[in-house]
Amino acid sequence: MQNKIIKLKEEFLDKLENIGSEDDLKSLEVEYLGRKGKLTQILRGLSGLSLEDKKKIGKLSNDVKRELEDKNKEAMEKIMQNSLNDFVDVTLPGKKITKGHIHPITRIQNELEDLFIAMGFMVLDGPELESDFYCFEALNILKNHPARDMQDTFYIDPASIKNSKGSFDKNGEYDMVMRTHTSPVQVRAMQKYGAPLRAIVPGRCFRNEATDVRHEHTLYQIEGLMIDRDINFSHLKAMLEIVGKKLYGEDTRLRMRPKFYPFVEPGSNGEYTCFICRGRGCKLCKYSGWLEILGCGMIHPNVLRNGGIDPEKYSGFAFGFGLSRLAQLKYGIDDTRLFMSGDMRFLEQF
Ligand code: DAH
Repeated sequence: MQNKIIKLKEEFLDKLENIGSEDDLKSLEVEYLGRKGKLTQILRGLSGLSLEDKKKIGKLSNDVKRELEDKNKEAMEKIMQNSLNDFVDVTLPGKKITKGHIHPITRIQNELEDLFIAMGFMVLDGPELESDFYCFEALNILKNHPARDMQDTFYIDPASIKNSKGSFDKNGEYDMVMRTHTSPVQVRAMQKYGAPLRAIVPGRCFRNEATDVRHEHTLYQIEGLMIDRDINFSHLKAMLEIVGKKLYGEDTRLRMRPKFYPFVEPGSNGEYTCFICRGRGCKLCKYSGWLEILGCGMIHPNVLRNGGIDPEKYSGFAFGFGLSRLAQLKYGIDDTRLFMSGDMRFLEQF
């Protein structure tokens, strides 16, 4: 009996040495150590032996069983390691994990937010799907006003929106639009916070554009407004000068020229010294030395009234920057459509 067990052990170890695959190893394990395996069979045959032999042989076969199990396990680990090495070349250098980074528009937005927060402004946002009232009417752009021509946008089919709660005009027409500018949040902010008020509103806007290198159907703006007693045009000018210096450097100058916007009176544009040629004239500024960056003005009394603020007591200024345009100029990007393209070759340059 003893010899039989020793022989079995040697047989097992011999076979083990020549095994190279996981499957073969498993069948060897079943053949010798399984429930119906050769070693188990021997143990079953112990019943006919004397008590003393039973003890001796029993111990021997248990020891052998444990030893063979250990050897089997070792061999299995080796095989697993080898097969791993077959398809993973552990000597290859690792793959670099690429970290994302901030989009150029977001970076300028963050810079401006920091600046305005330091001057006591709130940062607000508002809905991108906006009512005709806030987007146009409350801003003194009445129905059929020619100023609407420049701000044609995407009109929404209410049937396409689940549980749409939007507003309806007098004829029962659904009159929600994708906002064309961030200005609608002016009136929303006035209604919510009253005067005095200092806020900026960065956000995404939409227009029906025949797109080209300077026009895109989705664009970013940053709106600002300040309302208090005795706010006048010089406050607006001082504020815009601070912004220009922050954006383009200390020697940046501001030029303002009258421009019509229905929601301000007087209205003005805002141009900064071209940061490429510093005013001498170049291709970017079309040889004028100035870059037009924003629209602004003193908030129209009708707009204040629509926001629930008494224009006899309070006055305020408002301005709107094209964030996309700022980023385009700052980084010398010749096609504004690249911002929304999701093209990694473009984005990875920032
Ligand atoms: N909302 C205007 C636009 O999109 C920009 C603008 C002009 C905003 C004058 C203002 C402003 O707040 O006072 O063209």
